[in-house]
Amino acid sequence: MRVGCSSDWHIDLNHFWPRALDRLVERVARFDLFIFAGDMSHDKYKYREFCHKLRRAASDTEIVFVVGNHDIWLLEPPKPQRDLTEELQLYLAGEKGDLVKVKRQDMRDRRGLAYLLLLERSLSGYKTEALSAACIEADIHLLDVWGPLVMGKTAIVGNCGWYDYSYRIPEYEVDMLQYKAKQLRGGGTWMDARFAFWGAPDELVCEAMLQDVQAQLEFLERDHPEVENIIVVNHHVPHPSGVKVKGEISWDFFNAFIGCGRYSQLYQKSSRVQQVIFGHTHFRQHFQEGHVKYSCSPFGYLSREDENPLALRQTLNEGTGNIEKALDTKFFEFNI
Ligand SMILES: [Fe+2]
Ligand SMILES: [Fe+2]
Repeated sequence: MRVGCSSDWHIDLNHFWPRALDRLVERVARFDLFIFAGDMSHDKYKYREFCHKLRRAASDTEIVFVVGNHDIWLLEPPKPQRDLTEELQLYLAGEKGDLVKVKRQDMRDRRGLAYLLLLERSLSGYKTEALSAACIEADIHLLDVWGPLVMGKTAIVGNCGWYDYSYRIPEYEVDMLQYKAKQLRGGGTWMDARFAFWGAPDELVCEAMLQDVQAQLEFLERDHPEVENIIVVNHHVPHPSGVKVKGEISWDFFNAFIGCGRYSQLYQKSSRVQQVIFGHTHFRQHFQEGHVKYSCSPFGYLSREDENPLALRQTLNEGTGNIEKALDTKFFEFNI
């Protein structure tokens, strides 16, 4: 089976030369399985058209998505977010609680209830409904909503993944209030502070998503002994090797919002997890720890000048001298 992976196309922020987006989409048809590791768009009105475009171009490809932080952004939240902290803590502590509103009751045996709570009751959780509806129409498997996908001896699990500030560098002596506000005093702001609404502290959101991936893996362990190969997908960076440290606080401060290394500790424990796919960083990278390979192949942001097709061609060329080869670098490919 030929597998292709990519992420961070940001079809709302990138002013693509139309043929460039078509060429990206057309590439998906080359694969039997295509994994998109989040950050498609924060504009929910783009979800439907794009999912259909992808499905039309790659009618025979199994397509799997996870949600990226941009995908759950609400530029204009419809109402104030209720504080879910206490309720979330109960679920994280293993109290089953009364999750009566969970629409997918059959997910209880394979999912972390705390993350289901966030999907059901937070504003950012509601936002995934628009993406989920578009995915259902286009027959795309959204892991955050539907959980594990089993394809013979291969299974795909995952979700957005979140951050808990553990990638911060303590030597900078930045107080925790600045991390919680996602704003560096005298510096910039991480925009999730304005547009992501989980209704609970990031550390708990991170824990909820971690428990969810764990529950997905335990479900496979228990109910699918035939699965030999597990692919895990997160949007955020699950392993510290994926964090670029520059030695400048103006950059390194924002590494606090890149991901959390505890996800990778979980994956190392399962002998069946062979490949982890992630996005979010906007630079291509591959590394390995023990039996687990990690890969990130994002598109990232086009600059203003790239809106000109000729300049875009130059950007994509990246020294390869060939636009098709340059587009190939926006994908990671492997066989299982
Ligand atoms: Fe991104
Ligand atoms: Fe992202």
